[in-house]
Amino acid sequence: MDAIIKATELIKNSKNIVAFTGAGISVESGIPPFRGENGLWSKFDPSFLELSFFYSNPEESWRLIKDIFYEYFGKAKPNKAHYFLAKLEKIGKLIGVITQNIDNLHQEAGSTNVVEYHGNSKYLVCTKCGEKYNFTPERIEKIPPLCEKCKGVLKPDFIFFGEGIPVEAIRKTEELLEKGDLLIVIGTTGEVYPAGLIPIEAKNRGMFVIEINPDVSKVTPYADVFLKMKATEAAETLEHRLGL
Ligand code: APR
Repeated sequence: MDAIIKATELIKNSKNIVAFTGAGISVESGIPPFRGENGLWSKFDPSFLELSFFYSNPEESWRLIKDIFYEYFGKAKPNKAHYFLAKLEKIGKLIGVITQNIDNLHQEAGSTNVVEYHGNSKYLVCTKCGEKYNFTPERIEKIPPLCEKCKGVLKPDFIFFGEGIPVEAIRKTEELLEKGDLLIVIGTTGEVYPAGLIPIEAKNRGMFVIEINPDVSKVTPYADVFLKMKATEAAETLEHRLGL
């Protein structure tokens, strides 16, 4: 049976869909992926995102964070794939999105139950007193940005290498996998752990798995249906078939 037809049937027959997304879903919004030929890590050494490096070189780390992340994030808008997941939530089919992305595009597309597994770039947190601030371009004009209360260095509220996954994200992920019957995986290599375990855990719990990715990944062996295509193309085709 053609993969698209099978995926459409799986979605139609599911009641509690969970989405799991990676950088690939935001590529068509203008945010480069991390890995692969044109990935960020082919141009930049990721060690500036090591937590220990950030604490010992906050200015240098911030210079790269600002150029690499906030440069792209500021301009990016949700695309058809983000909106597709928001629509599935709206019609009561999808119960939550677990994302590795820190770009806030799922929320901007209207998704309300988003688990930010790697945090979110829209907030800054003081490394000294824990005060939390909303991100504004003005706040990072001077780097490193400092806390208004205690002058401690502010850190973007996303997960650096060597930093643990937020407990709340782990708890909410557990809740979604407990209830879910279908996992739709969009745009991840599945190479970064513990996030990469989520599709495997879903499979072990008896959930069906649909993967959308123009390339095979670590997730592909666990997929019941592999849609070898770009996120927006798959979203458009599935929306059409589902009559959304
Ligand atoms: N549509 C769907 N998938 C795509 C598209 C697209 N248009 N373009 C690329 N992809 C796929 C690639 O084939 C690849 O499998 O998206 C994936 C991107 O992989 P990565 O760049 O490794 O991103 P991700 O898996 O999310 O990385 C995980 O690594 O660097 C850390 O914390 C960072 O959250 C990130 C984590």
